[in-house]
Amino acid sequence: MNTQRITAPQIQRRKGKTPIVALTSYHAHTAAIVDRHVDLVLVGDSLGIVMYGMENTLSVPLDLMIMHAKAVVRGTTRVLVVVDLPFGSYEESPECAFRSAVQVMKQTRCGAVKLEGGGVRMAETIKFLVERGVPVMAHIGLTPQNILTMGGYRTQGRDRDSWAGLHADAEVVSAAGAFALVLEGMVEPLAREITDRVAIPTIGIGASAACDGQILVLEDLLGLNPHPPKFVKVYGDLGDAIEDAVASYADEVRARTFPARQHLYD
Ligand code: KIV
Repeated sequence: MNTQRITAPQIQRRKGKTPIVALTSYHAHTAAIVDRHVDLVLVGDSLGIVMYGMENTLSVPLDLMIMHAKAVVRGTTRVLVVVDLPFGSYEESPECAFRSAVQVMKQTRCGAVKLEGGGVRMAETIKFLVERGVPVMAHIGLTPQNILTMGGYRTQGRDRDSWAGLHADAEVVSAAGAFALVLEGMVEPLAREITDRVAIPTIGIGASAACDGQILVLEDLLGLNPHPPKFVKVYGDLGDAIEDAVASYADEVRARTFPARQHLYD
């Protein structure tokens, strides 16, 4: 069995070379399949919405991330597993972020953590973590943990005046030592410019094919989300496949008769 996992520095060295293929996963069995095809698996806090039906990601606790990350690490042997630090577990201070990151890394044996809103305001925290041995993936653009202050899930960079701020975010997280940068919900020309200028690989979601790699939520591409985001290309039809399988099972069980036991109830 190959137990040599892809590392954060290996992902970083892919900048401008071969595209980085990434997916989310929250679950051991699906992670084992994904492991054979991608480079990086993110245990994203989107699990709050996808697995638990939460309205947004704000209520996801650190313990829940750890439980799912353990399952994904157990289910995989070769990918780099990155775990999202959930809302409230890292923003207060670099020290608080370090304690949460270490808890995640010790309990799950993942290879890196991701911080949302990882722009200028998180640069000091990223540097603090990286200097202490925690590989960090940053995340800028549309950051769902800031949904209440952003006022909605809107594509970033529609207004050219906002570009300078997003360029600055990308530059500082790279200088702070992040090994990769997720660009979420961003107009293509801005994603392309950031990708051209920043030294670390960009991994886009709803940010066009101009990035160094792409990440999608696994359930979205499998056809399990009845309302996938507009930018998602759906590659599978699992929603219908599950519906058909469950309906066949239910029909088969309901068609059973129990003539031999009938006398017991007469
Ligand atoms: O939580 C998540 O799944 C994410 C991806 C959308 C990048 O952060």
